[in-house]
Parts: sequence; structure tokens; C-alpha cells
Amino acid sequence: MAGEGRGAALGSSSADVRAQETEEQMTDEERFSLLVSVMGTNPVLPVRDQRIPEDVPMSAGYVPGVPRLGVPPLLMSDASLGVTNPGYRKGDTATALPAGIVLGASFSPVLARQSGQMLGREARSRGFNVQLAGGINLARDPRNGRNFEYLSEDPLLSAVLAAESISGIQAEGVISTIKHYSLNCNETNRHWLDAIIDPAAHRESDLVAFEIAIERSQPGSVMTGYNKINGDYAGGNSVLIQDVLKGAWGYPGWVMSDWGATPSWEFALKGLDQESGLQIDVMMWKAEAFTDPLKAAHAEGKLPKQRLSDMVRRILRSMYAVGVDQWGAAPEVDLARHNDIALETARQGIVLLKNDGILPVASDTTASIAVIGGHAQVGVPTGTGSSAVTPPGGYAEVIQIGGPGGMGVGRNLYLLPSSPLAELRKLLPKAHIEYDPGMSPAEAVMIARRSDLAIVFGIRLEGEGFDNADLSLPWGQDAVIEAVTAANPNTIVVLETGNPVTMPWRDSVKAIIEAWYPGQAGGQAIAEILTGSVNPSGRLPITFPADLAQTPRPDLPGLGTPWGTPTTIHYNEGAEVGYRWFAKQHAQPLYSFGHGLSYTTFEYSNLQAEGGDTITATFIVTNTGKRAGADVPQLYLTDAAGQERMRLIGFERVELGPGGSQHVTVTADPRLLARYDGDAGQWHIAEGAYRIALGKSANDPVLETDAPVKARRFGS
Ligand code: BGC
Repeated sequence: MAGEGRGAALGSSSADVRAQETEEQMTDEERFSLLVSVMGTNPVLPVRDQRIPEDVPMSAGYVPGVPRLGVPPLLMSDASLGVTNPGYRKGDTATALPAGIVLGASFSPVLARQSGQMLGREARSRGFNVQLAGGINLARDPRNGRNFEYLSEDPLLSAVLAAESISGIQAEGVISTIKHYSLNCNETNRHWLDAIIDPAAHRESDLVAFEIAIERSQPGSVMTGYNKINGDYAGGNSVLIQDVLKGAWGYPGWVMSDWGATPSWEFALKGLDQESGLQIDVMMWKAEAFTDPLKAAHAEGKLPKQRLSDMVRRILRSMYAVGVDQWGAAPEVDLARHNDIALETARQGIVLLKNDGILPVASDTTASIAVIGGHAQVGVPTGTGSSAVTPPGGYAEVIQIGGPGGMGVGRNLYLLPSSPLAELRKLLPKAHIEYDPGMSPAEAVMIARRSDLAIVFGIRLEGEGFDNADLSLPWGQDAVIEAVTAANPNTIVVLETGNPVTMPWRDSVKAIIEAWYPGQAGGQAIAEILTGSVNPSGRLPITFPADLAQTPRPDLPGLGTPWGTPTTIHYNEGAEVGYRWFAKQHAQPLYSFGHGLSYTTFEYSNLQAEGGDTITATFIVTNTGKRAGADVPQLYLTDAAGQERMRLIGFERVELGPGGSQHVTVTADPRLLARYDGDAGQWHIAEGAYRIALGKSANDPVLETDAPVKARRFGS
């Protein structure tokens, strides 16, 4: 059985040697067969592609093996939030984890590792040996429809969590991707989107996230994005693939395209090793690229033999390094344990944004409570698109929403069967709880007025293929919340969204919880936090702006144009993404990155820092309240040798009983102290005093100190 450390045990050199030996024995026909994946039958592609044998379970991608050389086929499945099944296989359900942004909000590498292992086991038990997980695009824009799938706006947090998740998957003998390389940070016209960025700023933001995550976890594959970066499509971007990924970082695995993102065989010359989801390329570009056209290019001498071998070896190398050719019996899947991982992630990732002392609701309360809106009587929503996971027992409800463009067909409001209303009734047995669907302000007010307390759910449907038009709640929910608040001063709002929202009612409600898309046990976690059996500990992994005018792009280019309109986005904020942008503008957001309240209190003391090649800081965290709880102290660089510069350089999730304290040591990755010098192709640290702040959020420094850091150049 492939177990923890298999990849490490095999060692990179032995995987390289084996890959070379196998590749040398292949015919060209066999070599080419590895360079494309075919998508399985699903409602969008109802006819089975004959290249997929009948006994192969349908999924996002199939690559045939080479049995005579012991090379197994690759069976690829989505993705980071569970093993998906958008109609590939009848009745096959899997653990539906909370959205990636919930994992981001947990700041918990431990949960990231556990959920990765869960993904690996559930994939492998179905015969899938590639999990298309590892979504790490930075949240540059709060309208990006896919932010829920990703982890955060910060490179370090994203890298640390993605690396643990990828390592967890690969420890189960399943290859993980990391994706979407790079800057697929908006969904609007994503196939025609040109993301313009200063190359050095790119290295200090999205790319350093990929760099650190890849270094730490050695994912077998990197998936490129749909978009262009500085004029060239991600899959055909030789600067990013050849110079940076394979060159500067020495990445030895293979680079696959996203589905329908390979318009030309020439991408092979720019570093792309595998074309994914051939049929989608035919839909998009009217032809397959890496089958006949690539073979013809090879025959004509335009694709050198050496490059063809390299493409194949990279794929084989990852297979051997992760051990997909060494599988024993399928692992046991403990769905109850996996439900616990989903539940624990929701518990740790739900964020208490505001609390005027109304929470937690006492478990023995006899109060009358109005629960309003958000389909809370049915379940909790998920994000839509390729990452949506059908939970055990199926969705509680699927409400078709639709929309324009290629992704409109699958745009449904999926409700996972964990009803916050039912869970609240369990945890508050003496309370009198009534439910109103929140269809209209007038109707909601009727029960709010006769209740002691109102809990209003505000949901939003977000997903792949769409950016949100603005930051408001849809379906008139803001008006419902405003009316309920006017009728009942004791109003609590629970948000279930994939992104920040504006809150015109913020000052008049007593408490606000951001529960995101909390996964298959989300209703339970929400009820536990409302009633205090779980002490909230999530911290925002994304800044909540007061309005779009505060963000780098108040108007999103291309928004509202028909699908297919060429669009250019200038990511002029460069490396100053999210809280870094707010710090640079000296702007006050609605809620800062890193913010999150607790039912207990924490204090920080004894901050000390040592300089040198990097910064190592130590400090003490103490739980000064009466309840056990978890805190996430955050260490920021605020000034580098006289230059204002905001960077998260470390964090730690600390669980403490009442009165308990813990010593924490954090060492900064020197790349987070440095600037990338594009001309020299190196990181550069300027000599001087570096100021660090230990804080409760990016906007709430508690202790500060300086450390002298030495000048140096390093890396590539
Ligand atoms: C998504 C990828 C996904 C692929 C395969 C694409 O639409 O962008 O993240 O892995 O589909 O389903």
C-alpha cells in the first residue's frame, strides 16, 4: 500500500532514472498517447469518447497507460473540496468539504493536511490517481466567482495551506495538481482575458505562493490557467513555464492545461506537457492540439525529439515519485471520520465578524427565535462549477439558476443537507423557534416582531464562469435584513457567501457571522457557534472592503460584455494584493484580513525578534478569558529598511484553555522580506532595520519591534 512518505522514499533521482528508462523503451505512438487527456461522459458530453475504455470510471480526464511497460492509466478527478461527480457516475457521492476559503479562514495547516489525506483516500478508493486539487489563485478581486474555491489573498497563507493539502493527497499515493498557474483571478471572459502585471510584482505575489507551495509539497503536476498573462496564454507562456517554473524553480513534474485551454500544438514548444479535456478544446477552438497536429509537427521536425521525450518523462517521473504504479488494495474510506474533518473545518473556519454581546445564545434559553431566509430549513449552499461535490445521500435540494455563457448550464443553487434550522432546534431545545423563508421584508417582519431574537441568513450563489456584478446580497436579502433589524433590535446575521459582501445594515445588527460555504456539516457548525458549544476561531483570509471604490479596480474590465469578448485586466496593484493594498492606501476596510472574534480574550506579550539573514520572532499568547478557544496571532512586516511594506510573514493557530499560554516562534521566509529584482533575476534584501507587528489582524497591531536584517541577494 502506498503510504505516507512514498514519494520521499522513492526519491527524486530514482523517479527520474525510471522515467528515462521507461520513456526510452516507448514507441512514438505510446509517447503521444500520454500527452492528452480525454474527458468522461457527463451531461454536457453525453456520448462516450471511444478512447476511454468501457470499464474505466468516468471523470474529468483519462490518459491511457502503457501496460507492456507497467505504466498505469491516469484517471483524473476534481478537486480541492472533495471528489466531484457532476454527472459522470450514477449515484457516486463523496464527502463535501467546506469551500477552500473556509480552510483559508481556519489558518490551520493541520486541517489542510487532514483534508488532503481525505481527498487522496476518497479519490483512490474510486481508482482516481490524479486529484485536480490545489487551487491557489490569490483573491485579487472580491467579485471573482471562484474565490470560494481558493484559499486567501495572501501568498504565505495560501502556500502553507495548499502545500499541506497537496502533501496529504500525495501521501495517499495520488498525484495532486496545483492550479491555476497563474493569475486566473477573475472569471469574466476567462478564455479571452489578458492579465497584465509587472513581472517582478508577480514574483512577489501569486508566483511566490506557487513557489513556496511547490517547494514544500512537490505536486506531481501544475495546471495552467485559462487566461493570458502579459499577452500570452498561460498554457503557452514560456516565460512562466520555461523560465520561471521549470527554469528558476527547477520544477521536475508535468504541466497540464486547463480543460479547453490549448488552442495550439505550439504550446508544447512553450513548455506545456499535456493537453487536458480534448473535447472541450474542440468546442472552444474547433480542434484538438496535441493529437494529430502535434504528431504532424514532430514528423516535420518542428517538435524536437528531445522535447517529446521531456514531456513524457515529466509525466512518468511524477507517477513514480508519488507511486501511482505501486498501488495495493483500495484504502478503506471512513465516511464518519471524513464528515468530522468537514465539520471541524467549518468549526474552525467560520468567522465571527461582530458581536455586541448577544452571542452566544444560551443553550437553555426559552426565548422565541425567528430564523429567517437562506433556505436554512433545507441546508447550506455551496459554490458552483467544477469543484461542487455531491455529498453522501445527495443534495438536499438543487435549484436551477442558469445564466449566459458556457458555464450557465451548471449554475445551480446546491443545498447540502445540513440544515442550520434543524441543528439550532437540537441545540436550543427549550427555545421557541419559527422559520420564515425571507421572501419579502413585510413577511419576515411579521415573525421578527413577535420574537425575542431574529437570526437572518444571507446567502449568495457564486461560482466558476461568473464574476459577481457587485458586493450586494442578491434576491432582495439586504432589504429583508434591514426590515428585520428595524422590527427587532436583537438581530443576528449569518452570511453564507464565497466572497466579501457589503453590509448596509452592519451598524444596526447585533452580531454578524461569516459562515462562507461551510460544507456538508455546515449547518451543525453554524448552530454550534451561535450557541457557544464551539468557540469561533476563524480569521478572514480576505479583506472585506467597505465598497468597491476602495479596491484597486472599482470597475471590473469586461464585466457585462458577452462571453467571448477580449478583455484586458491591469493588475496595477502588483504585489500589493488585499490587505497590502489597503495598507498602502492607508484605507480602512469594513473588516480587515486576519480579523475574527472569539468568546474569550487573548493577550500577547514578550515580542522579541532576531535579525540576520531573516527574522525570527518569539512571543507569548495567553487566553485571558473564561473559555477555551483558539487564537491566530499574526506577524506582519510593516517597514523594510525605511520603506513601508506590509507582508504577512508568519502565523500560528494556538488552542488555549482559560488562563493558558503558549510560546510561539516564527521564522520568516526571506522571500517575504525581499524584493524581486527582475533585471538580476534574484531576490534582494536591503540592509536595515525591519519593523514587525504582532497583531490580531492586518489592521490591529498589538506589539511591535525592530530587527536588523543583512543585505543579500539570493535565489533565482
Ligand atoms: C476548471 C478546472 C478543473 C477542470 C476539470 C475547469 O473548468 O477550471 O479547475 O480542474 O475544469 O474539470
